[in-house]
Amino acid sequence: MTVNIPTILRSGVRLPILGLGTWKSKPNEVATAVRVAINAGYRHIDTAWNYGNEAEVGQGMRDALSGGAVKRRDLFIVAKLWCTFHRPEDVKLGISDSLDKLGLDYVDMYLMHGPQGFKGPKIRPTSESDYDDTDYVDTWKAMESLVDEGLTRSLGVSNFNSRQVDRVLQDCRIKPVVNQVELHPYLPQLDLIKYCQSKDVILTAYSPFGSTPEIGNEPRLLEDPVVVAIGERHGKTPAQVLLRYHLERGLSVLAKSVTPARILQNLEVFDFSLTEDDITKLNSLNRNHRYVTWQYSRTHKYYPFDDQPRSAQ
Ligand SMILES: NC(=O)c1ccc[n+]([C@@H]2O[C@H](COP(=O)([O-])OP(=O)(O)OC[C@H]3O[C@@H](n4cnc5c(N)ncnc54)[C@H](OP(=O)(O)O)[C@@H]3O)[C@@H](O)[C@H]2O)c1
Repeated sequence: MTVNIPTILRSGVRLPILGLGTWKSKPNEVATAVRVAINAGYRHIDTAWNYGNEAEVGQGMRDALSGGAVKRRDLFIVAKLWCTFHRPEDVKLGISDSLDKLGLDYVDMYLMHGPQGFKGPKIRPTSESDYDDTDYVDTWKAMESLVDEGLTRSLGVSNFNSRQVDRVLQDCRIKPVVNQVELHPYLPQLDLIKYCQSKDVILTAYSPFGSTPEIGNEPRLLEDPVVVAIGERHGKTPAQVLLRYHLERGLSVLAKSVTPARILQNLEVFDFSLTEDDITKLNSLNRNHRYVTWQYSRTHKYYPFDDQPRSAQ
């Protein structure tokens, strides 16, 4: 049985509120994960150039489409401009490479992966001399041309703080539909949610389960006793509670898994509701803990996660 995932309609774009994440999904696992997900009802697939697995994600989509039950137009494919393509003259190269690898003529949404540019060809900077200081507003303007050319249907940003979203909104021709950021009870970002909602920008939550922690001593969100207890009360797993936490508040959310049983489990979040008290308890778990820190660009002038903004931002 396939699940019908609700959508949010914004600026003419219909975004399915639950999407499949593909970061760290290994090339030999991700095609199957994407096929299983689409067959079960996922339509929103989140991809990125720097995940290094776009070709296999594309294969998974084609495998699912070959069954005939789902058409390309039913899918909502999100790709991302990596930071080494921020110079306006490089923006089209970034999307073209992703489209080639995915085997698509267009994506449904193209996000700027982060506000900070890197010189390349190294994917991540290893010193400040690898930073590129292209203004992300200039990058955005080049991205607008991609809509004109039909390479993407819509645009968004990712990892932008509210001041950075605001600068784009002040100077854009095509509005960002989404800001995709890390959100979960250990990092609720209530002010950013309030700001984006006030500007009609949808927040998409990434790393809802606390990502795949790389550091052994990082807090384990899926094992948090408060999350576990809320799940037990609703007859749901901690992962389902953590997804519902976003859906309850009008956000969209990405769940990454390459495990077929979990891909299906993560879909079963449309048959229960959290109470206001549950949401309050989850918000109170806040520790301002980021699993995804972009530490390698910590001193970049557009690094987005400083509590104290620098004037250049
Ligand atoms: N824009 C950005 O900068 C950015 C940054 C980070 C993430 N993202 C996007 O957001 C997506 C989700 O975030 P994420 O990958 O960081 O982490 P996540 O979805 O919070 O967590 C993924 C981890 O949770 C496990 N998992 C999945 N479902 C589970 C379940 N029901 N029960 C127990 N464990 C479960 C997965 O294991 P298995 O896969 O082994 O099943 C994997 O280890 C990414 O894949 C990516 O598409 C975007």
